[in-house]
Amino acid sequence: MDSLEKKYSLFEQKVKQAEQGAGEERIAKQHAAGKQSARERIAELLDPNTFNEFDKLVTHRSYEFGLEKTRIPGDGVITGYGKIDGQLVYVYAYDFTILGGTLSRANADKIIKLQNMAIKTGTPIIGLNDSGGARIQEGVQSLAGYAEIFYNNVRSSGVIPQITCVMGPCAGGAVYSPALNDFIIMVKDTSYMFVTGPDVIKAVTHEDVTKEELGGATTHNAKSGVAHFMADNEEQALMLIRELMGFIPANNMEHAPEYPTTDDPFREDESLQTIVPADPNKPYDIKDLLLVVLDDKNFLEVQAHFAKNIVVGFGRLAGQTVGIVANQPAYLAGVLDIDSSVKAARFIRFCDAFNIPLITYVDVPGFLPGVNQEENGIIKHGAKLLYAYAEATVPKITVITRKAYGGAYCVMSSKQVGADVNFAYPTAEIAVMGPEGAVNIIHRHSISNETDRQNLIDEYRETLANPYKAAELGYIDEIIYPKQTRAKLVQALELTQNKSQQQPARKHGNIVL
Ligand code: HXC
Repeated sequence: MDSLEKKYSLFEQKVKQAEQGAGEERIAKQHAAGKQSARERIAELLDPNTFNEFDKLVTHRSYEFGLEKTRIPGDGVITGYGKIDGQLVYVYAYDFTILGGTLSRANADKIIKLQNMAIKTGTPIIGLNDSGGARIQEGVQSLAGYAEIFYNNVRSSGVIPQITCVMGPCAGGAVYSPALNDFIIMVKDTSYMFVTGPDVIKAVTHEDVTKEELGGATTHNAKSGVAHFMADNEEQALMLIRELMGFIPANNMEHAPEYPTTDDPFREDESLQTIVPADPNKPYDIKDLLLVVLDDKNFLEVQAHFAKNIVVGFGRLAGQTVGIVANQPAYLAGVLDIDSSVKAARFIRFCDAFNIPLITYVDVPGFLPGVNQEENGIIKHGAKLLYAYAEATVPKITVITRKAYGGAYCVMSSKQVGADVNFAYPTAEIAVMGPEGAVNIIHRHSISNETDRQNLIDEYRETLANPYKAAELGYIDEIIYPKQTRAKLVQALELTQNKSQQQPARKHGNIVL
């Protein structure tokens, strides 16, 4: 064998060894658990043949606890870059088959290198997590690696989109980095997120809890609000990432990619005329309305299982991405409470950071009254939503479909918190509170019978609970028929496309945390 052949053969052997990871047996175990290998996941996520790997031959540098015997090239995380629908992304995928995908100093350095490249080049970064957290045998070296990853997560926040798909049991640092990301996707039945697992909980607090109850996809999508999407399986989770990427820009200096559509921007839809019921106490599904308005009725809902009284997500109008925030009258009458305020505030801040115009649909009876809400801080959590709207400088367009009562009027993208274009339907009721409550307070001492009360309610509704007072004052720019919504929004977006609004110079605001 001549020396050139020898060199190539050595190279081939090293690549092969790295690509085998911990070997066939471990990969089979991964498959048996309903999970794919890290390489299979990357291949499914990216456009075919676009993946380029960095640091394939990196190994850990530990000699303690017999670790020197398991020095596998790649060391538990695969890193590199590729494309999604032609758009460049960086990807790292933890390999659970190598020491449980745990973080060594060496593979922390691989991720940190990727993060630094992503920030420099303004490229989104996607993590596929399947990891037991800090590699116990490496002690503080592993902790230091995580701390640097977290530091970079924060430096990247609002500069490049950061997305994590949780695809296995993830603990400790393997959940704190995702928590600092913009979006978390979880896979039903095979993914878990917890600071510490059930065994530690049993030892410390004597509580018995299963992995699923503690940190399964349902727990974090429906109860804690930690996750944003839940997928039935890995394939669906990876496709969700691709879909999400189509709505968002590469970085904070760019706009989201445009998707040309054959859907007429001025399309009127008669069905919209009757979606909002004449009876103000009758619920309706706001998604029926917003779907009809969007291009091709395409809407990617974010946090669909959490705080269902507010709906947030992405759609397009005339090809351009918009962020939708909408009270949901079909759930708790669309009331604003702690969870819905925090959910919407975070979504608004994402859209604002990444130049995505905001469309707000308002039908809200107010903030939820109650001891539980007050004790848990509805004042400060509701203030987050107010803060997020007031701070946002992207185009803000509002449609009041029905109730806009009290503080909720102010908060939900009113003219006075900086909305650019405010529409209302003829069915809108804009007032300090609903007619029944208002009459009970202002006529408390004078109502003599039920007929009297009903007359006063009717009088209040005619005088104050309509869009006309707000329109007379210029707080509403235009009252529109529901069927015109799409055309009016498309034109308002065009009107505001070059909006430029500077905030006073400051280090950063002090959002109510
Ligand atoms: C070293 C680990 C490990 C760890 C798992 N392994 N976690 N090795 N350090 N942290 C190894 C196991 O020994 C095993 O090796 C292989 O990975 C697979 O793990 P299993 O336990 O067999 O798998 P499973 O039953 O699916 O359970 C997965 C798990 C569990 C839920 C993740 O292993 C677990 O609870 N691990 C500990 C999690 C943890 O407490 N991590 C530290 C968090 S602190 P073999 O060779 O037998 O296959 C942290 C610091 C940062 O991350 C905090 C920032 C805020």
